[in-house]
Amino acid sequence: MTTIIPNLFIIVAADSKNGIGIKNDLPWHLSDDLKRFKAITTGNTIIMGRNTWFSLPRRPLPNRRNVVLSPDPLNEEGAEEIRSLEAIFDAVDPDTENFIVGGESMYRQFLPHCSKVYLTRVEGEFNTDTFFPELDSQEWKLIEEGETLRDSKSDIPYRYLIYERIV
Ligand SMILES: NC(=O)c1ccc[n+]([C@@H]2O[C@H](COP(=O)([O-])OP(=O)(O)OC[C@H]3O[C@@H](n4cnc5c(N)ncnc54)[C@H](OP(=O)(O)O)[C@@H]3O)[C@@H](O)[C@H]2O)c1
Repeated sequence: MTTIIPNLFIIVAADSKNGIGIKNDLPWHLSDDLKRFKAITTGNTIIMGRNTWFSLPRRPLPNRRNVVLSPDPLNEEGAEEIRSLEAIFDAVDPDTENFIVGGESMYRQFLPHCSKVYLTRVEGEFNTDTFFPELDSQEWKLIEEGETLRDSKSDIPYRYLIYERIV
């Protein structure tokens, strides 16, 4: 049976085709979404794959517990290293919210175990080489849908969507 963890969430920004990244970077710069990401994750635990860790311009992200999944030692200051998917289940902090923050391999592996998805739907199609998996409507219910906003710096349109697991 699949273990579903009540305080394990996903946070992701994906374009109209579910693209999330290009050449180990983000396909866009959404300054307002980054601020929201900071507001939601600060004081909590963020869990990421090795590629996403190295994609961060400044790491660790401050005032958060940074957990990084990698089979090999990284020896990077501020990264709490975990070697396997199973080990994450023990590392999830019962007293904070825990966010899978990318990338594709992490979203695919952890989606079955998460209870909520904070999805920023970036409107339009970008050049991407990594993707977020489709959310099955039998499993996920849209509980919040924001209006279309435009990023204050890039003018890119996007919407905030929140999905909750039904089963
Ligand atoms: N749009 C968004 O919201 C968003 C958010 C985050 C990231 N991204 C983008 O996503 C892209 C990166 O995605 P990605 O799939 O290439 O990389 P990733 O998921 O960040 O990292 C993958 C690496 O993590 C390690 N890993 C994953 N699962 C593991 C397991 N079960 N056990 C041990 N190690 C494991 C492996 O490291 P080894 O290689 O050492 O085996 C694997 O190669 C980038 O373009 C990034 O900018 C987008």
